[in-house]
Order: sequence, then structure tokens, then C-alpha cells
Amino acid sequence: MHSYSLIAPAKINLYLEILGDRPDGYHELVMLLQSIELADQIDIRTLSTDNIRVNCDHPQVPQDESNLAYKAANLMKEQFPDVFAQFGGLEITINKHIPVAAGLAGGSTDAAAVLVGIDMIWQLGLTQPELQELASQLGSDIPFCIAGGTVLATGRGEQLSPLPDLDSLHLVLAKYRSLEVSTPWAYKTYRSEFGDSYVRETEDLEARAAKVHSGPMVQAIANKDGSQIGQLLHNDLEKVVLPAHPQVSQLREAFQNTGALGVMMSGSGPTVFALCESQAQAQEIQQQVRSTITDPDLDFWVTKFSSTGIRIS
Ligand code: C5P
Repeated sequence: MHSYSLIAPAKINLYLEILGDRPDGYHELVMLLQSIELADQIDIRTLSTDNIRVNCDHPQVPQDESNLAYKAANLMKEQFPDVFAQFGGLEITINKHIPVAAGLAGGSTDAAAVLVGIDMIWQLGLTQPELQELASQLGSDIPFCIAGGTVLATGRGEQLSPLPDLDSLHLVLAKYRSLEVSTPWAYKTYRSEFGDSYVRETEDLEARAAKVHSGPMVQAIANKDGSQIGQLLHNDLEKVVLPAHPQVSQLREAFQNTGALGVMMSGSGPTVFALCESQAQAQEIQQQVRSTITDPDLDFWVTKFSSTGIRIS
């Protein structure tokens, strides 16, 4: 078969702690990452020409070489030039449902789907670790997007330890359509404001990561204890994004007044999510916040946790 249709789920961060600088200019992180059912659909097919083409009808998604999905296809072409020559070009169609520049890994998950899809089309039989190695060359979140589920991520975010599935939890997400936050800006600002307290020694970094691994949040995940998880949500990037965007702070506050299990900004934002026990509670909370903030620029999504990463549609 020379075409595949794949589901590419978004992610949220249940926990994001910035530990320190890395020699490569990135940050050492400890994160708990969670796939959700809000997803893009990626169609990949071979072309009789020898080029890579990306189609997406979303106005904020580039269709040129700057698109991470294009970069993923190009990486596969560079890694396997003979197979590319045998199968010909590739057409990638992105059906965008995940909001863009939202802290939900939308671009990363599309790139992950392209790696998985090309592996299948070309019948390479790459293992998940091999695909994740390629993925880490494209972006820190992409190895996670391939595997999905509930995962503890360290290093740049590419060192992964799977945790028990949490797919019974629901959530409501909200984002101002016209508001985007640049991830490099968020990390750079964090470094300039909080860099003095960064951990410098490798052993200290390892100890901090181990503390999270054996700590109460991972225990709450093991117990599938939604209300504990809700209380332990944490994201260091809120310290720079919320003061810069009072709208996002107000949105977070509106969610906090609803009785959700917990509320937090995902990744570098500006999406805010509220954890809920049920779909009915998520819908009810969406209504409550919509009636508090009537701005038509505010979009909502009700979804649930997912235990899978990239999968065939
Ligand atoms: O790896 P990715 O391209 O997704 O990262 C986007 C940006 O986020 C990087 O350019 C960097 O500014 C920041 N980042 C970081 N440390 C990480 C991951 C991302 O500083 N571990």
C-alpha cells in the first residue's frame, strides 16, 4: 500500500519543571506528558514525481520547507536515499484540528506521524526507539508524540519512561484564537528571570529528576487518583507566560472557580486546561467559563486522555 491515514494526538503537560541549562543551549527538564484525544489527521501518499509536498488548509500552517512535517519527510529522504528514489515523492496532507502555537505539540505530533507513516509506506520496519532517535533530531517533544500515553520525560524532553495509562480522565481546553506564545521566547525569558537558581551539577540534575519519578505526582498517576493529580499540576513556564498575558491569567482563574479537579497552562501556553472526572463535568465547566468570559475569540475543546500516540486512522 502506498498511502496511509494516521491519527496524531495532541499532548498536555501535567508537570513541567525547568532544572537548568544544557550545553546544547536547551534546558534540562522533568515533565509528565499526557496524550489527549484531540488530534490532527495526517494523510501520506507516494507521488510519481520526486518532490515532497505538504498541504494544509489552516491559514497559520506553512506549506513550505519550514513545516516540521516537511522536515520529517526530508529527514527520512536523507536517511534512506535509495528507498526514496525507489518509491518517489511524497504528498502529506495535514487535517488540522489541534490549535497552532498553543503548547499542545500540534506541529510535533504531525512530524511524528510523518515519520511513522513513511516507515510504513517504505516498509522499513524501524523499531520505536529507532523512530524516536530520528524524531529527537527534529524536536524535543517528537519522540514522545510517537509513543504517546502517560510518560515521564527528562533531558531535553526526549528521554522517556512510560507510566501507567490514565485514559479515564476528561478535560476541557481553552485558548484565545488570536493569541500565540513562542516557545523559544518563553524559555529565554525564564532563563533571564530564573537562571540564577538553575541546578549546575549533573548529580543534582539526576537527583531532582529522580525526586519527581519517586514523588507524589507519579504515585497519584499510579493510583489513577484524578483529584490528587489535579492538585499536583505544575508548570514553571506559567511564571513567565501568565504575567505577560493577563488574559491567560484571567482564563485560568475562571476555570479555577468551577470546581474542576485541577487547572493549568499546557507547555509554553497559551492553552489552559481543566481536569475533570467525566465528560459531563467537562461540558458543564466549559459552559460556566463561557458564560464568565464572553469574548468570541475564546475557543474550547472537550476531550479526554488517550493512552496512544500515533496510530492508523
Ligand atoms: O525542541 P523544540 O524545537 O520543540 O524546542 C523549541 C524551543 O523550546 C527551543 O528552540 C528552545 O528555545 C526551547 N526548549 C528548551 N529546552 C528544551 C526544549 C525546548 O530551551 N528542553
